[in-house]
Amino acid sequence: MTLSILFSDTDANWSTWETPLREALAESGISADLHRSYDTPERVDYVVYAPSSPLQDFSPYTRLKAVLSMWAGVESIQGNQTLTVPLARMVDPGLTEGMVEYVTGHILRYHLGIDRHITSNDRIWRPDVAPPLARNRRVSILGLGSLGMACANAAKGLGFDVAGWSRTPKTIDAFKTFSGKGGLVEILKRADILVLLLPLTDETEDLINRETLSLLPNDAVLINPGRGHLIVDEDLLDALEHNLAHATLDVFRTEPLPSDHPFWDHPRITVTPHIAAETRPATAARVIAQNIKRAENGQELLHLVDRQAGY
Ligand code: NDP
Ligand code: OXD
Repeated sequence: MTLSILFSDTDANWSTWETPLREALAESGISADLHRSYDTPERVDYVVYAPSSPLQDFSPYTRLKAVLSMWAGVESIQGNQTLTVPLARMVDPGLTEGMVEYVTGHILRYHLGIDRHITSNDRIWRPDVAPPLARNRRVSILGLGSLGMACANAAKGLGFDVAGWSRTPKTIDAFKTFSGKGGLVEILKRADILVLLLPLTDETEDLINRETLSLLPNDAVLINPGRGHLIVDEDLLDALEHNLAHATLDVFRTEPLPSDHPFWDHPRITVTPHIAAETRPATAARVIAQNIKRAENGQELLHLVDRQAGY
């Protein structure tokens, strides 16, 4: 049987995904009509989806078996009431590697105080600015999913004093773990370097606000490759006048970040344009093909979104 698979994303992404997807489907032994037509929704078996997709109403897709997201974050689709079939998010080795590189790069930049040496041309010899050892620097990671866990392990591997926070309690030998509201207070209080790798849900929206930012130690720094809506922008700007020394932000409430947004000009904010980690078609296409094969064989999808929890 030939499956009808709708690739629902932009022209630009079709040009990078078409070949890897066709190859991955063929490798998995799946006979598929991979297309971009919205004309015959009643024939479509699977939708390969990205947030830039125009598809909002899934009700005409009467034969649909699953939606496979090309993105890790599924906040733009997971609450869609017309979507009644399983939704899988993207967990891809290339995405994870990219995030580990971004997060460890920025952790090391802060830890070593690299900016100070790059930006000061004042010819003053400052031997007093040697950094502590990593083991004496506390890194707190909010979110211990596929990305947060990989980043926590990488930071631990570099010697940092790592702790992680998740919704459900976890026991991990390599580092300290916290969960729940009380756990959040504890992990923020010890966050010399705070990393946000949470999904955007009703519970995590605005989590980083005046009250939670005030728990950070003096001279804390923040790295946010999670989602822009985790942070209350005004409260972050205010914290930069108090206990927060610097922030590196990859994701924003509005993307692209509007040119008049105060984050652009702030001397202690680094803006990166949502490039912390990209889904790499070469590896991610295989994840999608593998999941279609599982669904066809009656197995549960990998990386299934819990629509109740919102991620
Ligand atoms: P996962 O779903 O694997 O992990 C999410 C983690 O967040 C889990 O540990 C989960 O807890 C925790 N969590 C969720 N809700 C809460 C809560 N209310 N309180 C405490 N912890 C909570 O996601 P990924 O690691 O794959 O990705 C994380 C996010 O990174 C994505 O949702 C996306 O927004 C962002 N991202 C950004 C990219 C970029 O380029 N900037 C690229 C890819 C992703 P538990 O373990 O208990 O379930
Ligand atoms: C994602 C992202 O969620 O790129 O995949 O942010």
